[in-house]
Amino acid sequence: MPNTEDTKPIAEGRICPGADLLVGERGFRFKIKKGGKVWPAFVVRHTSGVAAYVNRCSHLALELDWDPGIFFDIDKTSLTCATHGALYTADTGECIGGPCAGQPLESINVGEDDQFIILMDIDCSLTPDDDNSSST
Ligand code: FES
Repeated sequence: MPNTEDTKPIAEGRICPGADLLVGERGFRFKIKKGGKVWPAFVVRHTSGVAAYVNRCSHLALELDWDPGIFFDIDKTSLTCATHGALYTADTGECIGGPCAGQPLESINVGEDDQFIILMDIDCSLTPDDDNSSST
């Protein structure tokens, strides 16, 4: 019997209010269900829009954040992994330095309307996350 708690969509694909994300600042953590598994994910705002990724470094299967929601490096332009310092572009998740060895982050297709960041990825769905600040 499927676990309906894990598959229940959140408010029609709304991830968070768009106003909650500022360029180069704290991202929003959420969870997706993809391929029958629940994955931690995050969305950030960069200089040309918003981008979302599975919260899993391509070096080792660890979450990136320094503290919950902190993904940008000191210059607030690139995403970096807290564990060994892999560096990724914020807009595409491309590996640009460190031990990610050319392997990108796994991107999630998102968009934005006049109020919300919206999941637009047909390969996954949002799942409830009762504690947005906790690590998984
Ligand atoms: S786990 Fe991210 S750089 Fe090593």
